[in-house]
Amino acid sequence: MASSDEPTASDAEPVIGEHLRRTVAPPAVREGHRPRLVSDADWAHASQKYELEDRPVPPPIPNGWYSLLASHELGRGELRAVIAVGRELVAYRDDHGVAHVVDAHCPHMGAHLGGGRVRGDTVECPYHAWRYGPDGQCVEIPYSDTRIPAKACLRTYPVQEVAGMVLFWFHHGAKDPTYEVPAPGEHGADGWSEPREYRVELVAALQEMAENNVDYAHLWHVHGRAAVPDRTSEFTMDGPFSTVVEQLPDNVEFHRNTYGPGVATLRVPDVMTIFATTTPVDRRHCRLLWHFYFTDAVAPLADDMVQGVTGEYGLMADVPIWQDKVFLERPLLVKGDGNIAEFRRWYSQFYEDA
Ligand code: FES
Ligand SMILES: [Fe+2]
Repeated sequence: MASSDEPTASDAEPVIGEHLRRTVAPPAVREGHRPRLVSDADWAHASQKYELEDRPVPPPIPNGWYSLLASHELGRGELRAVIAVGRELVAYRDDHGVAHVVDAHCPHMGAHLGGGRVRGDTVECPYHAWRYGPDGQCVEIPYSDTRIPAKACLRTYPVQEVAGMVLFWFHHGAKDPTYEVPAPGEHGADGWSEPREYRVELVAALQEMAENNVDYAHLWHVHGRAAVPDRTSEFTMDGPFSTVVEQLPDNVEFHRNTYGPGVATLRVPDVMTIFATTTPVDRRHCRLLWHFYFTDAVAPLADDMVQGVTGEYGLMADVPIWQDKVFLERPLLVKGDGNIAEFRRWYSQFYEDA
């Protein structure tokens, strides 16, 4: 006789055929025609899996300030391993609250410092407990009274925390920063929301993503927006900074202030501001960490606005293009292609020593 504990048809495991069907469904069927994110590594795009002949290599990592983490992700005394700018890095916040970024591997025997710990203002290697100070120099070899070798030194990266982001400076020639990134005035200001965080990793070369912003001809075909004729858009440059102002329909303006290759502030004035940081993981992958701010008046629409900017007709519409395209050093630009040539001249300054 069946007991009342016996499973019923409704809570039984799915039949095996059903289970298999779900697991073997190809990604496009399973997910719909969605962008292929790098985190889905088992189905990363074929152009990354195979050694293809004559496929142009994306440009090198540009010099500049990039975000590594949001400030809240790095508590006092914590360290985090992060891959960025084509390197393995470790960020740590010392016991005084100061954030540091260093190369991940210990010069002694190559252990990864991400498994170590913070002691005072130093980071301690997990292998033999050598400790490194804020300038990267080894300050203690706990089991040896030998003179500490001068080469026992980690590469360090200048750090500034701006509006809740841990930014670090990367330069191929290890030169000092050549500009500063200003905090957006909306951060912590009355009448503006707390930052709302958006993050994603994409298969895209950093310059390709940036170039997209001055590529007015794709707006209709990819984003379903009216193309922006040149005369309603302005691109101005000032050293490592640049500005794009677009006139959108209904007298709405869109401003993009760019601070080097990794940081921009995007504004629909008095409505929404995005402190947008984009960090090259390597030449072909980017990590976006964006903070959205909204005025109190539009705060109830925040979800829709984030979706509008990042969703299927916004950022995500570009993703399939970026992940499959190649970077052409000499594209066939024609009238109507926007300010791409001008943009490239400006951008070339970030490849010094690269
Ligand atoms: S490998 Fe780091 S202390 Fe030995
Ligand atoms: Fe786009």
